[in-house]
Amino acid sequence: MKGRKNILLIGNAGREHALAYALSGSPHLGKLITTPKNDAISQISQAIKLPNDNNIIKLCQKNNIHLTIIGPEQPLINGLADKLRNANIPTLGPSAKAAKLEASKGFTRDLCAKLKIPAPAYARFQNPNAARQYAQTQKPPIVIKADGIAGGKGVAIAETQTEALHAINRIAEGTFGEKNRDIVIEEFLTGEEASFFVLTDGKSIIPLASAQDHKRLLDGDKGPNTGGMGAYSPAPILTPDIEEQVMAEIIRPALKEMTARGAPYQGVLYAGLMIQNRRAKLIEFNARFGDPECQALMMRLESDLLPLLYDCATGNLGEREISWRSEAALTIVMAAKGYPGAYETNSPIRGIEKAEALDGVRIFHAGTAKTQDGWRAAGGRVLNITALGKTVADAASLAYQAASCIEWKEGHYRRDIGASVIGQRALAREE
Ligand code: AMP
Ligand code: GLY
Repeated sequence: MKGRKNILLIGNAGREHALAYALSGSPHLGKLITTPKNDAISQISQAIKLPNDNNIIKLCQKNNIHLTIIGPEQPLINGLADKLRNANIPTLGPSAKAAKLEASKGFTRDLCAKLKIPAPAYARFQNPNAARQYAQTQKPPIVIKADGIAGGKGVAIAETQTEALHAINRIAEGTFGEKNRDIVIEEFLTGEEASFFVLTDGKSIIPLASAQDHKRLLDGDKGPNTGGMGAYSPAPILTPDIEEQVMAEIIRPALKEMTARGAPYQGVLYAGLMIQNRRAKLIEFNARFGDPECQALMMRLESDLLPLLYDCATGNLGEREISWRSEAALTIVMAAKGYPGAYETNSPIRGIEKAEALDGVRIFHAGTAKTQDGWRAAGGRVLNITALGKTVADAASLAYQAASCIEWKEGHYRRDIGASVIGQRALAREE
């Protein structure tokens, strides 16, 4: 890669703040253009209101953009990467066809079945009556999913037949979208979950790192599923042996098949895994970095992110080693009370600067606004308190120390991020 690169980063959550932070440290960065609505990202970039997709191409041409990075799944699924690449703008992120690995759970399950990729037994239905009949033949817990994306809300683990029927009805009624009424029913897997990320340009596949998310809202993995309430990286459960199994039995065959189908995958591929008896099964693929896993990954990344992503987008990934800090990173998500349901915005948040002054701590903003009298909440997930430490336990204790500097009455966060690996439940005293 030669010369400085101008970058357009699409997305404005905590994941994109972490990406913007990593990119802004690169000596190869020219201009960093971002989309508004995240004032912390705007502080380290030039935020330009995004016009519609066609005008994005004009914006790229006008600003001499060398690389567009698409953070969230929706624009990928809508085909934004295809549009940009058709206009010869190097873009990180899969085509709409390849993003089907995230967009349709049934598509991915069929692909796994064909390739004998380790995954739960499943059946898929367009007809809710057929789904109801099938569910009645299954022993609870039964996993019922809307086929399409639903922000983590379209998955129900039904403990009884009645719950299973409710879950099927909700999907069939269009709760997760008019066009999201197809149903996937799966075998319930037990074990420990972990995420694994790779970067691929359609030819090379470079393993990135592992992480562990905390999907449930409350301590002890209780409460509703959310987009993710905290994460740490690396995930010790993903040993080198299991990583090799994941590459050999899950990632490589799936990517090879996408290429064979004329939909080569390019970008970050996220495998959500269930590990049991030292073997991984695929729960889901996502077509992007995880949020908040990306925040932990970016704290650990030692290599320059910019050439990595640029070379990926231009098909020049080749074989390369990526350097990671030896430390672990952990991120705590501070969310507005009420999230993932209805929540209020605009409450004042104090102490961010004090928290960030701690050595080894960074605060990534997921949903804040800067006002004349300081930061205010502007979303469901609001702050990501991220810290490095020699071990996950050290990273957790520093992250919780930083969290205690933040004064935000309307905020809520889990007290047990990392606890399963540290072997203790409560890391921080209740307020
Ligand atoms: P997904 O959106 O497919 O990742 O599902 C959300 C969450 O539901 C996962 O992170 C798991 O905790 C859980 N889950 C999904 N599928 C299964 C399964 N087949 N067995 C057990 N848990 C599952
Ligand atoms: N943290 C889970 C996700 O990004 O899908």
